[in-house]
Formats: sequence, C-alpha cells, structure tokens
Amino acid sequence: MASWEGRTSRITRPPIAEINRMAGELEARGEQLINLGQAVLGLPPPKSALMAVRKYLDETSVCGYSPDPGLPHILDKLVQFLDEWKGISGAAREQLLLTAGANQAFVNALLAITQIGDEVIFFGPNYFDHVFAMELAGCIPVEVEMRRSQGRYVADIEEVRCRISKRTRALVLVSPGNPTGSLFPKEQVEELTRLCKEHDIWLISDETYDLLTFPPHVHVSPASLGIHDKVVVVGSFSKSFGLAGWRVGYLFGPLAMVEETIKVQDTIVVCASVPSQYAVLGALEETLSYRSKALEALEERLEALLAVVDASTLLSGYRPDGGTFLLADILGPQSSVDFSKTLLKECGIITVPGSAFGQFGEGRVRLSFGNQSVEVIQEAGRRLANWERELG
Ligand SMILES: Cc1ncc(COP(=O)(O)O)c(C=O)c1O
Repeated sequence: MASWEGRTSRITRPPIAEINRMAGELEARGEQLINLGQAVLGLPPPKSALMAVRKYLDETSVCGYSPDPGLPHILDKLVQFLDEWKGISGAAREQLLLTAGANQAFVNALLAITQIGDEVIFFGPNYFDHVFAMELAGCIPVEVEMRRSQGRYVADIEEVRCRISKRTRALVLVSPGNPTGSLFPKEQVEELTRLCKEHDIWLISDETYDLLTFPPHVHVSPASLGIHDKVVVVGSFSKSFGLAGWRVGYLFGPLAMVEETIKVQDTIVVCASVPSQYAVLGALEETLSYRSKALEALEERLEALLAVVDASTLLSGYRPDGGTFLLADILGPQSSVDFSKTLLKECGIITVPGSAFGQFGEGRVRLSFGNQSVEVIQEAGRRLANWERELG
C-alpha cells in the first residue's frame, strides 16, 4: 500500500508498541513479567466514587446523555474542588467541562485555540500524547529541553522567551511532569504566566498529577495566580483518584474559550460518560483522605524503587517531586529502546524507553512505581541485580 495520506500519518508510532508486543509474546510463553511501564496509580479508587455510581445505577437518567459540559451539580462540586485544592477562586460552573480524561480536554483546548500552522511550545522530555495532539491539529510543536540540575529537571525560561515567535499560539506546562516527575516551582509558574501574558499567548496547564506531590513540593496552578486570562487547566481523575479506566477529566478556562470547546466536545463524545461523572461526584467527597493514603503508598513505593536504582550499576536516578514515575539515566552506550528490550528479555521487567518522550528522553528509561507494591519493586531489584552480576 502507498504511504498513508491522512493526517494521522504525521504521527510516529511510539516505541512502546514494540515493547508491549514483545511483552505479550513473553507472557504468552508463561513468563512472569513485572510491569514498571504503566504510569497509573495501582490502588483502588475512593470507595465513595464507586458508591456514588452504584447509587445512581438504577436511575434511567444515568443511561442518557448529560448536557455537553456535564451534570450541573457535579460541575458545582468541581468548582468547589478548584477553590479548595488549587486556589482557583471565583470560578463559574460555565467555565468547566467534564471530558473523557485529560487527554480529551487537551485536544478540545488545542482545537479551540489554535489554527493550522500555529506553533505550540512545550517542554521535553515530553508527554507524547500532547505532541500527537499538536500534530493532529496541524500545529507545529516547538520543544524546549528541561535540563537536570541538582537532581531535578529544570526549565530554562530564557530559552522559552527566545523560542516565542509571531506564530506562537500556546505554551504547554505539565507539572508534575510526565516523564520527569519534576514540578515547576511557584516563581517559575509566575514567570511563565507573565511571559504568556506579555506575548498574548495561551498557557495550557496539564495538572494530571496535581495531588500526587511529595512534600515539601506543592503544585501551583497558573490559573490560581490571577496574572493572565488566557490560562486553560486540563485536569484528570485518572491518577489522583485511581479512576483511569473510567475515562474522566476536565477542562477549565475563560468562558468564551470553554464555549468554543463545547463544539469539539459535542463532535467527539457529546458528554463525559455519565456513570463516570457520578464517580467524580463521589470521589470528590474523599479527596483529603484518599490523597493521604495514595501519597503514603506512593512514597513507600518510590523509596523501594530508589533503592533499586541506587544499587544498580546500569541506572542512575534522582528523587521526583511528584507523579508516579522516575526517569532514570542509562549508564552505558545502549539506546533507550535497546536497553528496554534487553531489560525485558533478561529480567522480565517492562519499562518505557526514554525516546518515547521525544529527542530529550534518549539515554533514559521511565520506571513507574505507582502501579506496583513494594514487594514487586524489590523483586524487580533482585532480578536486575542478578543480571548485573552475570554481566560482571
Ligand atoms: C501528563 C499527562 N496528561 C494526561 C494524561 C492522560 O490522562 P487521562 O487519563 O485523564 O486522559 C496522562 C497520562 O498518563 C499524563 O501523564
């Protein structure tokens, strides 16, 4: 067949597909694999989330569409959440849209605010689905490298300033970042927000891991600063509430922009899944206690993974500020894809090669600690150590 001509052809398949194919073959042969690939929270969601769904399951309304933005009383609950947890005060229900996850919220926002050929600046190592969305939307991705400094990934704001052109329409911020796990400190969030205001460009803030931050680090939303009107928050219930499979997230932004995104919403999903909206209603009842439980588990898992990486002669790590993963350096000449493949073959450990996260991810491998117990992470460490011993 001739090469594909549709706009999906702009997207390069991520190397994870190849690792997953190999993993499938090994599992079919009965191998016990350890999955340090998926960046999900391996904890059940808040009980109140499932209880809320059960309570409404017998009502016929749960089987119909909701209004495009979501059920009004659930949006009101989200307004309260933005105020209490993100310091975004005075939000109106009409500035919110429940979506099928943060990914859909990001696509809605991008389609509403950009024209084909617009440039979108973002940081790398990057979250690849953002880049795919830019490519689908016909935007030009402009990547700014985050460099490791004192054990964290840090953005160079002067470089962002230099990369802004007449065609720049938006800047994307992911904090805590995927795959870096690094948070943008308040001063940098302020500086970037001011920069966007100065150049009249949108700031899209992906806050998927907002609640999963390790003290003393705290997440700061640019929408809480009152500096710039053109700020869009993309939020998720997948990670902070363990509801990834329910596919529910949200978008928050200025009224006129949110109204535009409803056109995309109606075209793609009409509304977020109504049972999932009820899950959100319930989950938000338990934010405080669920968050502390999730953080406790995550911190234990992170300590276990840091011990594995510290003991390794093939990897070198650092302590992430938040999220569910660590992007470790590979200490050797292998490419990240080859390293991930070898680790899978020799140790039965699934990881994501750094090149999946763009040009600045090469030479690294993402290890997720969110999805596995301490015991399983320690077992991964034993397998890695045995293999390293064999290598000499
Ligand atoms: C930065 C970031 N944004 C968005 C998503 C997707 O979130 P959701 O499941 O809400 O679509 C992920 C998932 O890994 C992510 O890491």
